Parts: sequence; C-alpha cells; structure tokens
Amino acid sequence: MKKIVLTLLVASASLMAADGAELFKKCTSCHGAAGEKAALNKSQIIKGWDAAKTAEALNGYKAGTRHSAGMGGLMKGQVAAYSDADIAAISAYIATLK
Ligand code: HEC
Repeated sequence: MKKIVLTLLVASASLMAADGAELFKKCTSCHGAAGEKAALNKSQIIKGWDAAKTAEALNGYKAGTRHSAGMGGLMKGQVAAYSDADIAAISAYIATLK
C-alpha cells in the first residue's frame, strides 16, 4: 500500500513539473524538431524566439485573440489546455533551440 501511494505521488509530481522539451514534442510535426519550419507554410519560424515573445503568442492563441496568419483557431486547439506553468516551460525551451 505504501508503495502504491509513493508511486502515485511521484507520478503526479512529474505531471505537475512542466517539462518544456516534453511538451514541445506535440508541436514538432508542424514546427519542426527544432522549431525551424514555417508550420503549414504559414507560421513564422519560432526557433530561438525570446521566451516572453513566445509566451505572449501562446497566451494570445489560448485567449483566441491572436491570428498572425489567419490560423489562430488551429493554434488555440494546441495550447488551450496549457497552464501558465506549461506555457512558461515550453517558451523557455523554444528559446534554447538553435
Ligand atoms: C497542426 C500544426 C501545428 C501544430 C501541431 C502546432 N502549431 Fe504552432 N502554429 C501553426 C500555425 C499554422 C501557426 C500560425 C497561426 C496564426 O495564424 O497565427 C502557428 C503559430 C505558432 C506560433 C506563433 C508564430 C506566428 O507565426 O505568429 C507559436 C509560438 C507556435 N505556433 C507555437 C506552437 C507550440 C508551442 C506548439 C505545440 C504546443 C504548436 N505551435 C503546435 C501550426 C501548428
């Protein structure tokens, strides 16, 4: 029983600590493994974007207010479930991409 409780605690702790690299995996099909692609030939190339700039863009999509290439609805679906911590973690990760 103790072991089960511990396993659950560890599992939920790792779910809560947002891992930017892990989160970015679901973005790579469109943005490229290192953010080097124009997603669907529409987006800007986000590789190395300053974390504040990425976070602002992602928050805009989440709020439904950003449509830089007319496809904000698609990006809203990508980030709608992200918490502020998720957005911060993924933005920090994108800033490290070279
Ligand atoms: C199905 C393809 C697809 C996936 C998956 C996807 N994106 Fe996008 N992304 C786009 C498109 C298309 C745009 C341009 C949207 C618009 O009109 O503003 C975009 C725009 C962006 C922008 C702003 C760049 C700009 O042109 O203004 C950022 C930052 C971004 N995406 C990050 C992400 C992150 C982080 C993920 C993963 C959570 C992700 N995207 C997943 C297609 C995708």
